[in-house]
Amino acid sequence: MQLTGGIYFSENSSRRSTPSFYICQMKKVGILGGGQLGRMLLQAAINYPVETYILENDAQCPAAHLCHHFIKGDINSFEDVYNFGKGLDAITIEIEGVNIHALEKLETEGVLVYPKPAALKIIKNKIFQKEFYRQYQIPTSDFVVTQNLAELAEQVDFLPAVHKLSHGGYDGKGVKMIKNKEDLGNGFDAPAVLEKKINIKKEIALIIAVSSTGDIRFYTPVDMVFDQRLHLLSHQLSPAELPEKVFWKVEAIAMKLVKELKSPGIFAVELFVDIDDNVLVNETAPRVHNSGHHSIEACYSSQFDMLWRIILQYPLGNPDNILPAAIVNLVGESGYTGPACYEGLEEVLKMDNVFVHIYGKKETKPGRKMGHVTILSSERQELLHKVNQIKNGLKVISKEL
Ligand SMILES: Nc1ncnc2c1ncn2[C@@H]1O[C@H](COP(=O)(O)OP(=O)(O)OP(=O)(O)O)[C@@H](O)[C@H]1O
Ligand SMILES: [Mg+2]
Repeated sequence: MQLTGGIYFSENSSRRSTPSFYICQMKKVGILGGGQLGRMLLQAAINYPVETYILENDAQCPAAHLCHHFIKGDINSFEDVYNFGKGLDAITIEIEGVNIHALEKLETEGVLVYPKPAALKIIKNKIFQKEFYRQYQIPTSDFVVTQNLAELAEQVDFLPAVHKLSHGGYDGKGVKMIKNKEDLGNGFDAPAVLEKKINIKKEIALIIAVSSTGDIRFYTPVDMVFDQRLHLLSHQLSPAELPEKVFWKVEAIAMKLVKELKSPGIFAVELFVDIDDNVLVNETAPRVHNSGHHSIEACYSSQFDMLWRIILQYPLGNPDNILPAAIVNLVGESGYTGPACYEGLEEVLKMDNVFVHIYGKKETKPGRKMGHVTILSSERQELLHKVNQIKNGLKVISKEL
């Protein structure tokens, strides 16, 4: 089922592509951040005439050796981001924690920014993000904003709830479950959102591509299965198993969301389906996302390929699935910190239709995302069987304890 749509950005009208266009010059495109997302974006860049730049503090980062130009610097510093971006045609992000003021200035000077700084500003801060959903009647869990622990302590009647740091949290580290009065002290003593706890039936995600001319493509939603202990994605199945009426709710909500964000780019929307089949937006990421990694092998145009098409102002690709897929995230085994070793890798490499992605991080630590494995099969049972084999057989450890 391919879903398409369109939005019109009046401010971009001068940049609309003409019916036939010529690719005459290498565009200079910068990525803020050099982690695994930047690395996979660069893997897709080699198919296109683009000169790539990475800004990142860590010269050993996963993307450093794959770009044309590595610039060491702080993605949160105005000076570093501005100086990095000012000679570029376009700039994108692999993480939300970047200096928005510099991106705003670059945008006014004609650098194309994906996503638009205005959309990034909303998403970067969980308080603004939830207020945005409320303002545009995009279904989401009810919430109150708390500035500190004293304000949280007044919310006994709102429990059970989930407390989320307004900014700076990642991979579940800015999220605390507050079940009862006794848990209130475990919350954040900083600006945060307190959300009603949802009775979740399943968690799903979908990737949406929005071009500068307003074309939209939806990837098929995926089922996300979480590791309750680490609050990290354990594995993911594509396509998600959803009753048709739930699927259409998801599609309508996602469409409204990207229309109101008014920005080209790749967006990942995480949603909850509750026990009554209500669909609620959990959060949005304005960038390529873990929940779309299967698209490298499982879709005609991957989320990374699609982002290049958006940035380079090419026609959008085809997001349809070639085959159903599963992803297992490879995370650092608990109890091991130090140089990374991949125990059981040989057995996984022997498996058919299984694709290993190791991110090239030298050091492992508990819960650190070190890679992922994609499995393709037309049989869901086979996908699940291989997920279990890989989860049990492949471990990221260190010989140094
Ligand atoms: N309102 C809620 N009710 C019930 N469970 C929730 C709620 N909000 C979050 N959770 C659970 O906590 C998990 C992490 O929450 P969330 O996605 O907001 O955090 P995160 O730190 O951004 O995670 P990540 O960066 O890995 O996506 C969710 O995937 C879900 O399992
Ligand atoms: Mg999340």
